[in-house]
Amino acid sequence: MHVVFAASECVPFAKTGGLADVVGALPAELKKLGHRVTTFIPYYRQVARAMPNLPAKIESLTIPFPTYNRFARILDAGEQNGAQVYFVDIPELFDRESLYATPSGDYPDNAERFGCFSRAVIEATKILGVPDIFHVHDWQTAMVSVLLRSVYYFDPVLRKVPSVLTIHNAGYQGWFPPRTIETLLLPWDMFTFTKLEQNDTLNFLKGGAVYSDALTTVSQTYAKEIQTSEFGSGLEDTFRQRGGDLFGILNGVDYGEWNPATDRNIAAHYTPEDLSGKKACRRDLLHAFGLDHIGDETPVLGIVSRLATQKGLDFVAQIADELVKEDIALVVLGNGEEYYERLFTELAERYPDKVRVQIKYDNVVAHKIEAGADIFLMPSRYEPCGLNQIYSLKYGTVPVVRATGGLEDTIDEQHDGGGNGFKFWGYNAWDFFDAIKRALATFRNKEQWEGMMRRGMAENHDWEISTKAYVEVYERVIERRAWS
Ligand code: ADP
Ligand code: GLC
Repeated sequence: MHVVFAASECVPFAKTGGLADVVGALPAELKKLGHRVTTFIPYYRQVARAMPNLPAKIESLTIPFPTYNRFARILDAGEQNGAQVYFVDIPELFDRESLYATPSGDYPDNAERFGCFSRAVIEATKILGVPDIFHVHDWQTAMVSVLLRSVYYFDPVLRKVPSVLTIHNAGYQGWFPPRTIETLLLPWDMFTFTKLEQNDTLNFLKGGAVYSDALTTVSQTYAKEIQTSEFGSGLEDTFRQRGGDLFGILNGVDYGEWNPATDRNIAAHYTPEDLSGKKACRRDLLHAFGLDHIGDETPVLGIVSRLATQKGLDFVAQIADELVKEDIALVVLGNGEEYYERLFTELAERYPDKVRVQIKYDNVVAHKIEAGADIFLMPSRYEPCGLNQIYSLKYGTVPVVRATGGLEDTIDEQHDGGGNGFKFWGYNAWDFFDAIKRALATFRNKEQWEGMMRRGMAENHDWEISTKAYVEVYERVIERRAWS
C-alpha cells in the first residue's frame, strides 16, 4: 500500500523530540514489509540551509486562503531512509529561525503555518498520487484529517482515503482563537463541542481525534491514560468516545543510529559480551563535562531531555541537596523552558564538583550520555512512550523512571534484583529519590548490576513488531472506508 506521512518533524532534517525519530524510522520498516511511503515535511530554514537548491517537483501549488491564495513549492529530496521525501516550501511561513517558537513564545501564526502545510500536503497528493492512507502526527498535521472530511468531502477520490492520527503527546493540542476557523476556510458549524471547539478555542488535536478514521498513541499504557482526566489534558471524553478506534503501539528504536556496538559518536564500542568499551565512554563523557576527577567507582547519572514540565525535572531540583550527599556525579543535557534551564544551571553552579549541565541541543552529546552514564533518569510526569529509556537499555545504562505511559511498559523492576531498571509510582520527589537509592545500592553489587545491564542490552525494541501493528490499523480503516 502507499502511505503518505505528513509531519512537522523528521530525522535527520528537523527535530525537537522523539516525534522526529519515529517519523524518520517507521517508513524504512514499512518499506521492508513491501509498502511505499511518501513523507511531507515543511521546508524550514534549517532544512533549506542543509539542503539548498533542491529540484521542484511542483513549481507552484495553490493553497486557498482567505482574501488571497498562498503558493507552495514542493521540493524533491529523493528517497531518504525508505521514504520518498518532499519538502513543502512556503517561505513566509517556514523560513524562520525555529520550528514552532521563539524563546518568548509560540509563533502567533502557527495555525496558519500548519493549516496551510496540511492543505498543501493534500493538494500535492492530488498531483503526485493519492495514497491509500494518510498517516498524520500530533496537532501540527491533525488538520489533514479534518480537511479530508470537510473541504474535500465531495472529492470522489479523496473521500475514500482514510487517515490515521498518531498522538505522540496529548499535552500539546494546538489551541487557537475561534476566528481561526475562517483562516482555515472551514464552515462555522464545525466550531462546536463535538467537532473542533474546546473551551471556546479551536483545537487542532481535537479535530484530528474526531475526524481521523483511527487514532494511535505510542504506548498501550498511554492509550489508556489519555482517556482519563489526569492525562487527557481536557480531551479525555473525546478520546474515550473514540476508544474503539484508539490503539496503543509502542515506538521502536532505530538501532542503526542507537547501538553501542556501532555508534559513531562514542569513544569506544561495546556489546553485552564485552562491556569494557563502556569504561572508555564513561571517561570520555566525564571529560566532556569537565568531571575528570570523578573516579571509576562513582556512579554517573545522566539526563537527556527537552526541558519541559512534562519531564518531571522539578524532582531533580527537590532532591538535589540530598542526592549530592551520595557518591555520584550527574550530567544533564537539555534545552527548552527557561525556568528549567535556569534551575539546572543554578544546580551546576551550586555543586560544580558533582553536577554539570549543558544547556543546548546536541545529538553527539546525547549519544555520549547514553553510552557513558551508568544510570539514566526519567522522572516524567507523563511520558507517551519515551525513547531515551529504550536507548538506555541498549547502552547498558540502567533507567530510573516514573511508572507512566511508555516508561511503565518498557521498564520492569523486580524485588529479587531482576528486571531491567528501577521505577516509582507516586508523583513525588522522595519516591524518585528512593528509586535512585535502590539503583545506587544495586550498582555497588557488580554482579547484579552487570546482570541488569546485560538484560537491558539483550532486549530488542526494533520497529518490526510495531510496524506490523500499524499495518493492521491501516488495513482495518482502509477496508472500513471502502465500504462507507
Ligand atoms: P520527547 O519526544 O518527549 O522529547 P523522547 O524520549 O521520545 O521524548 O525523545 C527525545 C529525543 O530527543 C531523543 O532522541 C533524545 O535523544 C533527543 N533529545 C532530547 N533533548 C535533547 C538535547 N538537548 N540534545 C540532543 N538530543 C535531545
Ligand atoms: C512525544 C512524547 C514521547 C514520545 C515521542 C515519540 O514527544 O513526549 O514520549 O516517545 O513523542 O512518539
